[in-house]
Amino acid sequence: MAMTSLERAEAAEHAMSQELDRIVVKSVIYTSGDRDPRQPLSPQQSQGKLYMMGHDPRLPLMPERPTLFDFFKYRFGPSAHVLQSARLAKKNGVSEKIVLACLLHDISVMGFIRGDHGYWGAQLVEPYVEEEVSWAIRHHQVLRFFADESYGYKYPDSYIRLFGADYQPEPHIQEAYRRAREHKWYETCRLITVNDLYAFDPNVKVELEEFTDVVGRHFKQPKEGLGFDQSPSAHMWRTMNHPTKYL
Ligand SMILES: [Fe+2]
Ligand SMILES: [Fe+2]
Repeated sequence: MAMTSLERAEAAEHAMSQELDRIVVKSVIYTSGDRDPRQPLSPQQSQGKLYMMGHDPRLPLMPERPTLFDFFKYRFGPSAHVLQSARLAKKNGVSEKIVLACLLHDISVMGFIRGDHGYWGAQLVEPYVEEEVSWAIRHHQVLRFFADESYGYKYPDSYIRLFGADYQPEPHIQEAYRRAREHKWYETCRLITVNDLYAFDPNVKVELEEFTDVVGRHFKQPKEGLGFDQSPSAHMWRTMNHPTKYL
């Protein structure tokens, strides 16, 4: 019987993991939906191999004490969007805190989990930034769905293309918006959305180093490296560093 595309992908992945010295079993969240998580995994030919418990050789090795920029360089997807957003924020003359928030606002999409990315992103950086910055990152995802003409922010055309003209944010998002509206840091968050542009110029290359000083002043880099400092989100940085770790 012909293989389905999912079976083909699984077979190719299986062959690839056979070339590694270690067995890789992906976390449920990476595959759930593509496969039904209730089904047992096909048995791996272990042949005496050990399971992946550290660095995955298919990824670049991270420094022992990784910094925020190391994650940008070695683990995050393309960062043009957040770099251009941070540059635009700077050009618009907002405070350095907001420039940093723009630089970090989508790191969950780039390196961790898409759904609820504002919440995940805020949690990642919470121990290292001022509360106002993580609050704004958390809520930018919500505010993006709601226009505010007084800041020149319209509902994004791109969202109509991406989600359909009749898309309505779920009730919990509407409620989160209602609360954010009343919050003392509403403006900080709104300024992320104002500088959160999708239509970036592919010819403009913004270097990470443009923000070395802002990060240096407003992001408390742990001396042990992100992931190894015992902070409440350290485990999340470790997961990005070692995404295929068995346990
Ligand atoms: Fe976002
Ligand atoms: Fe964004």
